[in-house]
Amino acid sequence: MHDAFVLVVFGATGDLMQRKLIPALFSLYKNDQLPKNFFIIGFSRRPFTNEEFVDFFSKEKHKKEWKAFAKHLLYQQGTFDELWGYEALVKRLQSLDTLLKMNLVRIFYLATPPENYEIILSMLKKSKLSQGCGQGSNQWTRIAIEKPFGKDLQGAKALDMKLADIFDEKQIFRVDHYLGKETVQNILVFRFANGIFEPIWNKDFIDNVQITFAEEGGIGRRGKFFDGVGELRDIGQNHLLQLFANIAMEMPKSFTKDDVRNARAQAIHAIVPISRHTLQNAVVRGQYEGYLQEESVIQHSRTETFIALKLFINTPRFAGVPFYIRAGKALQKNLVEVAITFKPTCHILFKEIGCPEEGNILRLRIQPDEGIRLKLIAKVPGPKLLLGDVDMHFIYQEQFGTTGMDAYQKILLDIFLSDQLLFNRSDELRSSWEFIETIVRHWLNIPLCQYRKGKWGPEEASKLLLQDGRKWV
Ligand code: BG6
Repeated sequence: MHDAFVLVVFGATGDLMQRKLIPALFSLYKNDQLPKNFFIIGFSRRPFTNEEFVDFFSKEKHKKEWKAFAKHLLYQQGTFDELWGYEALVKRLQSLDTLLKMNLVRIFYLATPPENYEIILSMLKKSKLSQGCGQGSNQWTRIAIEKPFGKDLQGAKALDMKLADIFDEKQIFRVDHYLGKETVQNILVFRFANGIFEPIWNKDFIDNVQITFAEEGGIGRRGKFFDGVGELRDIGQNHLLQLFANIAMEMPKSFTKDDVRNARAQAIHAIVPISRHTLQNAVVRGQYEGYLQEESVIQHSRTETFIALKLFINTPRFAGVPFYIRAGKALQKNLVEVAITFKPTCHILFKEIGCPEEGNILRLRIQPDEGIRLKLIAKVPGPKLLLGDVDMHFIYQEQFGTTGMDAYQKILLDIFLSDQLLFNRSDELRSSWEFIETIVRHWLNIPLCQYRKGKWGPEEASKLLLQDGRKWV
């Protein structure tokens, strides 16, 4: 069990806290995965008392477990840019240490819109909160920071410099919750614990890789955040590139944070930049019809809600293999999946009856219906020799009776345990921004294609593959 801690959440009345962090913390509590002594302090502008803060979340007010959990919730009013809230927080933290006669590990979680990160970090420094509990050492302090990490390469670098000025790398947890998903963690286990895949996980056997990140919902009430960010930065720069890295990376030397992060960083670094010449056949931008009428979206906004990319990686393993990647809002259904299509074989034995048009397809379903499916070719029962497709299927729910821990539970648990393996290192982020910038640089030359809600994005996304004689699986 990890040490006693106090988690201070900045932006404690925001969407992330309400939808993800509090439910995850409550589940950890119910599963007995939190230490005896812990506190969660919400830091926000509203003038709440502790009780009002608790009431803000408690849909499960009547339940005994919630009441017990709620005793660990505290509230500190403060604005991000004024010192008084932070100074009050200092006193609050000191009194908790005194109460328990111990130095509680202090974790600061930035769950605010990214434009507040800088001022909060400055204030943490100014109020000396970043220095921990007064021993002159900051080993008792950690900082967790949500994506998007910067808005561009320059912004990411500046944020990194700011962080490095205040914290050591071992204290910094850059969150990309996709890395915490059970199905994403399983990619490496699947690839490297099953000896049958590694020998064929390369350009000699793989025809193409497709990654789909589809969301059925539009942007809902997140217009203020999303309109200034867009799908490429909201999903592409982080979740998509992390999925890509897990598929494309070389085998890490060991399953330790340094080696796994090295392997991820090298994969992202090896992506071939998109140039002005390759642009037309490599990038599609889309916006769903009706986006301009969404709440808080600016008039005539050109923000994309859909992207499709074709990218290549410059490694001996995958040189020349296209990775087709798409992500969008207001699409036909919720689906996150990696599909690896192997090269079709046409053995002389079957030449006369017709060879399969498509090779085997391995689908790693990230969500929903978490599982893995392998398309094989089999003889269709009957007197004649006919070939047909069949599926081998593994479904988490059926096999394990669960789809695993929620991503935020895993992320929070690892922060409490101080395990950084599932968190982005600064060089990974830098490389991903470097690649994204090669696209953004040409943004204005890429048409913004409209698409109807409930479809799979604009027609142009299908053409991206058609031009190569392929289709989305
Ligand atoms: C977030 C994005 O990081 O991930 C959202 O900001 C997106 O736009 C969300 O909806 C998807 O996460 P999940 O876990 O619900 O698939």
